[in-house]
Amino acid sequence: MSSFLEKNRRTHRCHELRGENLGDEVILMGWVDSLRDHGGRRFIDLRDREGLTQIVFKPETDDKLHQLAHELRNEWCIGVRGVVEDRVANGGSENPKLVTGTIEVNVLELEVFNRSVVPPIQVEDQIETSEEKRLQHRVLDLRRPKMQKTFKLRHRIAQATRNFFDREGFLEVETPILVKYTPGGARNFVVPSRLNPGEFYALAESPQLYKQMLMMAGFDRYFQIVKCFRDEDLRGDRQPEFTQIDVEMSFGVEEDIQTIMEGLVQQIFRESLGVEVATPFKRMSYQECMDRFGSDKPDLRYGLEHVTLNETLGKFDGGGVPFFKSTLDEGGLIKAMVVPAQYKLSRADGDKLEDFVKGLGAAGLGRAKVGADGAWTQSPFAKLISDDARLALNSACGAQEGDLLLLQFGNAKKVHMVMSALRQHLANTLGIIDALGDDTKWHLHWVTDFPLFEENEEDGTFGAAHHPFTSPQVGHEDKLTSDPASCLARAYDLVLNGNEIGGGSVRIHDDKVQAKVFDAMSISEDDKEAKFGFLLEALKYGAPPHCGIALGLDRLVMLLRGTTSLRDVIAYPKTQKGTDLLTGAPTPVDLKQLQEVHIASIAKKN
Ligand code: AMO
Repeated sequence: MSSFLEKNRRTHRCHELRGENLGDEVILMGWVDSLRDHGGRRFIDLRDREGLTQIVFKPETDDKLHQLAHELRNEWCIGVRGVVEDRVANGGSENPKLVTGTIEVNVLELEVFNRSVVPPIQVEDQIETSEEKRLQHRVLDLRRPKMQKTFKLRHRIAQATRNFFDREGFLEVETPILVKYTPGGARNFVVPSRLNPGEFYALAESPQLYKQMLMMAGFDRYFQIVKCFRDEDLRGDRQPEFTQIDVEMSFGVEEDIQTIMEGLVQQIFRESLGVEVATPFKRMSYQECMDRFGSDKPDLRYGLEHVTLNETLGKFDGGGVPFFKSTLDEGGLIKAMVVPAQYKLSRADGDKLEDFVKGLGAAGLGRAKVGADGAWTQSPFAKLISDDARLALNSACGAQEGDLLLLQFGNAKKVHMVMSALRQHLANTLGIIDALGDDTKWHLHWVTDFPLFEENEEDGTFGAAHHPFTSPQVGHEDKLTSDPASCLARAYDLVLNGNEIGGGSVRIHDDKVQAKVFDAMSISEDDKEAKFGFLLEALKYGAPPHCGIALGLDRLVMLLRGTTSLRDVIAYPKTQKGTDLLTGAPTPVDLKQLQEVHIASIAKKN
C-alpha cells in the first residue's frame, strides 16, 4: 500500500465540496479529467464516480509540487490532500455547470497511484468514437459520466424492486442456470456435461418452470432479479444474456398480479426518475391493439390510428378498385391511416413514405390526398374508385380536406406489420414524439386476451404463443381440442411507450388441462413425459392456482434512461454478432478441454 493511503483516508467524493467547506483540509481521490494552466497555476479537474472538483497547484504553495503537477496526464489515477478555497477570491471565476463550481482545492500533497498511457478513447460524454471501439475499451468507456449515471439508475431500479417485493411479502429465491434442455421455445445455449458423456445442460432461458414449482412447494410469493440466456438473433432491444425481474404468486388472478406490478412500476418511476405514474394502467385486448395500431405493443402516446376498411369496401365490392376487390375475395385485410392536413405532407413526402414501406417488403403504399368535396388527388385509385365508395371510405377514416390517406392491403400479418411501422415512422419524422410534454412522456398499458396458440403457417400445427404453461381463458378449455386457433389465453403483456417490457400469465395448475394443451401442440405422450414429466408430476400434489410475470430489466433501464440500445445499459454487453469485444469471447476451446467434455468440433473458422 502506498504511504499516502496509509496516512490519508478519503474525506469527500468529487461532487461534495461547497462554499461551507472553505478552509477545510480534504482528501480526494480520482482520475485526471482535464488539465490547464492559467496565471502560472496548474488546474486539474479531478473526477470520480460522483462528479468533478477543480484542484489547483500553485507555485507559491509548493513550487516542487507545482512542477510535478505538470507531469500529470489525462486518466492518471491520483490522490490529493489540500485546502478548500474560494475560486473567485483566488482570482478565478465560478463554474455554474459544476455543483462544486464555487470552490477549488489548493493541493498540499499529491500521490500518483497509477499513470495512464494515452487513452484510445476520450473519457467524456460527447464522443464520436464508434461503438465498436467503445466496447473494445469498455473500461474507459464506462468511466464516462453518462455511463456511470446509467448504472446508478440501474442500481436504483434494482433496489426499488427488492424493497418493494420485500414489503409485499415476496421471497427472493435463486433458481438454477444449468437446466434441463427442452427443444422448442427460444433457442437455448447448451453446455456439455463432463460427468455425463454425450449429455448437455441448457442455460435457463427463464426460471419459468422452477418458479411455478416454487409455488407448488408452498413459497406463496417469489421474485428474483435473474439472468436469462437465449441464443436468438440479436437486435437493439435483445441481448443473448439479459436480466429479468421475475415474479410468481399463488392464489391470485390477473387483476392481483397486475396491481402488484403497477405498484412496482410506480415505485421504480418514483425512486429512479422522481416521476409519478398514474395507476391502474389502461388495459386493451390484443385484438383491439392489432385493429387500431397493427401491433401487440402499440405506443399509445399519440394517435395515427389505423382503420380497417374491409366492411366499408365490402359493401361496394371493392368500390371499383381491383386491388381492393381481390384482397376482399382472398380474405386479406385493407387498412388506412390518416395523416392530418396540419402536417402538410407533399407528394414528395408521400414518395419517401412509399420508399420506407418498400424497405419493409411492401409492394407499395396506397395514397390519396383528400380535397374539398372529398375528392382524391395524388392517387392511383382516384379514377377507379366509385364516388360512393370513396365518400364511405373518407367517412370511415374521418378524413377531412387536406388530409393524406395512406393505405395497405393484402396478407393481414404483413398489412399490420407495415402499417404499424409506418405509424411509428410518422410519429418520429413528423416530430410528434419530440413534441410530447412531460405529462404525456410515459405511457404504460396492459395488453390482454392474447391467442393461446400460434399456428405454424407451413404445417398447420400449433405452438404456444406465450409458453405452454399458460392457462386458457375460462370457458375456452373445450376449444383446446375443437378450435385451438380461437382459444384465448389468460396472458398479459406490459407495454411502455411502444416497447414490451414484460409478459406473464395465469398458469395451468391442473395436470389434465396441462396435458390437453400439450395435446393441442401435438406433443406426443413420450415427449410429454420426457420433456415435462417432472412438471406433470409436481402438478399431482395439490398445486395451488398461481400466476406470474417477468419484466425485462434491461429494457426498462434503457427506456427510463432514454436510449435505444440495450448495449448502453449493460456493463459488458454482446454485439449484434454475440461477441464480447472487450475479452474477445467467444473463442475456440483447446482440443483437450473439448475431449474432456466429450465434444468434437466440426466448425471451420472462416
Ligand atoms: P418473456 O419471454 O416475455 O416471458 O420475457 C419477459 C420479458 O423479458 C424481456 N426480454 C428480453 N430482454 C432483452 N433481451 C432479450 N433477448 C429478451 N427476451 C425477453 C422482455 C420481455 O417482456 N417466463 C416468461 C414470463 C412469465 O410468464 O412469467 C418469460 O420469460 O421485456
